[in-house]
Amino acid sequence: MRIPGLRWLRNCCTFSLASSGRKALTLLQCKKQPVTLHKNYGDILPFVCSPGQLNQVFFNLLRNAFEAINEEGNIWINTFMDNGYAVIQIQDDGCGIPQANLSKIFDPFFTTKPIGSGTGLGLSLSYGIIEQHGGSIAVKSEIGKGTMFTVTLPITREADIKESELQNLK
Ligand SMILES: Nc1ncnc2c1ncn2[C@@H]1O[C@H](COP(=O)(O)OP(=O)(O)OP(=O)(O)O)[C@@H](O)[C@H]1O
Ligand SMILES: [Mg+2]
Repeated sequence: MRIPGLRWLRNCCTFSLASSGRKALTLLQCKKQPVTLHKNYGDILPFVCSPGQLNQVFFNLLRNAFEAINEEGNIWINTFMDNGYAVIQIQDDGCGIPQANLSKIFDPFFTTKPIGSGTGLGLSLSYGIIEQHGGSIAVKSEIGKGTMFTVTLPITREADIKESELQNLK
């Protein structure tokens, strides 16, 4: 199995979501209140990944969720294992995404935010990072009801990687 540019880190996902995720949430919550967070972190097996890049993905998704809520609302973070895949869902009950925009949101520089407040790069970068990990990112949204992003990542174990590649990753 070929995993370019990734390094092996045990418990990376636990670290990424429970620790760095917490820092991201603290930062974002300072900016915007009142948002109620509903965290449901199911166990995810450790897997080969670039934790720094995955942190960027979840920070982007959480920031978008906060920005979609105008006055008050909820954000749900669910993580679980499904069929050998790690699944991370970030859902909000914010403004929602118009059907016509759903095919554009992963394009670089696509933004609906006021000039100066969004670059339109968050989702396009996140898409590339998830793709590099062999995973996928999906979105479901309804105007006025909210949005849910689902990130699915394969649980690539150390044993799945050739010894020679492993040396390069360490
Ligand atoms: N949770 C969400 N709820 C509603 N709209 C969203 C949500 N997430 C993304 N979008 C839409 O997708 C667009 C692109 O998102 P993306 O994160 O790529 O860029 P951005 O948030 O506009 O800017 P930035 O580069 O600063 O993240 C947003 O401008 C917004 O219209
Ligand atoms: Mg964004």
